[in-house]
Amino acid sequence: MRILAIETSCDETAIAVLEADGRINAPKFKPLANVVSSQIAIHAKFGGVVPNLAKREHEKNLVPVLKTALKEARLYRSSANNESKTNKRIRIFANNSILADCFSHEPELFRQFKKEIPKIEKPAIDVIAVTYGPGLAPALWTGVNFAKGLARVWQVPLVSVNHLAGHIYVNLLHQKKIDFPALALIVSGGHTELVLMKKHGAYQIIGETRDDAAGEAFDKVAKLLGLTYPGGPQISRLAEKFRIKNKEPRIRLPRPMIDSPNFDFSFSGLKTAVLYKLRELTTTNTEFKTNKRIRIFEGDSLFADIAHEFQNAVVEVLVKKTIAAARKYGVKTFILGGGVAANKKLRKDLAESFSRALPTVKVFLPHPKETTDNGLMIAVAAYYQRNKKAARSDLRAEPALRLA
Ligand code: KG4
Ligand code: ZN
Repeated sequence: MRILAIETSCDETAIAVLEADGRINAPKFKPLANVVSSQIAIHAKFGGVVPNLAKREHEKNLVPVLKTALKEARLYRSSANNESKTNKRIRIFANNSILADCFSHEPELFRQFKKEIPKIEKPAIDVIAVTYGPGLAPALWTGVNFAKGLARVWQVPLVSVNHLAGHIYVNLLHQKKIDFPALALIVSGGHTELVLMKKHGAYQIIGETRDDAAGEAFDKVAKLLGLTYPGGPQISRLAEKFRIKNKEPRIRLPRPMIDSPNFDFSFSGLKTAVLYKLRELTTTNTEFKTNKRIRIFEGDSLFADIAHEFQNAVVEVLVKKTIAAARKYGVKTFILGGGVAANKKLRKDLAESFSRALPTVKVFLPHPKETTDNGLMIAVAAYYQRNKKAARSDLRAEPALRLA
């Protein structure tokens, strides 16, 4: 089975092709293509992702990214010289505007679709998977409409995938099998959720953030420190400079909700605490009166202390609640997912805490390269929901889609 997966929920235009072989419940996955066109440089100027800019970029990128992915997967065949029946049909479809309803809000994408898709032979794929939520509405719609258009002209089934399921299931690219019940911690720019899974595709959210997501907190604190978007990786790099020096902390920050009798989180207070700390330091400490940005990269600065303490606070809360939830629900597998899963401190502390407190739990940490948004994660998730019915032709983007 070959799955072509499309992901445009935020600021990456991503298309992957995944092949699944072997036993249905223990497949062997072979990624044939994984193309990600990142818009980070475009959004960085604005300090965060601008939804309509993201949509415009997806419109421009989708057709070229598809071609690159098909070439990478060796499934690209140009029909330039000898037009097949399928391609004639596609051309007629496009010219008669039978496809226009798929692209009524994406004129640029439709223009490219009409021009380029009839030139490509239908590739040997069995299903198209697409992220339909959660995410930024204009960005999601672009991917959904593109997927609908392709599914229609190539006449293959379309499967709609929850982005967060993708962050969970990307772990199965390399791992063999989830033992249930399983607990997933999803930490991304938009979500912080503890999810209990009793079987494939069955999700129960047992805790979530009440305000900012973990990644959002990283990004906001980074901004306060004068770092560019996305700030998560930069904060952790800065925090490591502190760790190397092995000093006593000069800064203390709260651990919000760490002892609350539930599995919910709250990170916005942490950002405010950093803001107040910075204000206080600006008036009392000469280090803050001179060039801040240079000092950040010197490492031996209060900025490194703040980054270190902030990262510790977030990680401590996440780890403590995760272990408590894993214990309460007697889970057999723990799965980490989302952009913040790239954080080294979080990975290390989770692994150590499980091996200390719950050594029999299987711990799945995604490959750091597979933590950011990509098409493979959507393809794997689509594989595991293969028994669900394919999306109807009136599939809609659902920006506020939930897992449960
Ligand atoms: O999952 P993702 O790529 O996009 C969403 O679905 O939101 O997550 C992006 C988030 C950003 O907030 C980014 O700052 C954060 O993941 N992030 C990190 C690290 N790498 C990415 N946060 C902390 N430490 C990191 N190493
Ligand atoms: Zn994501």
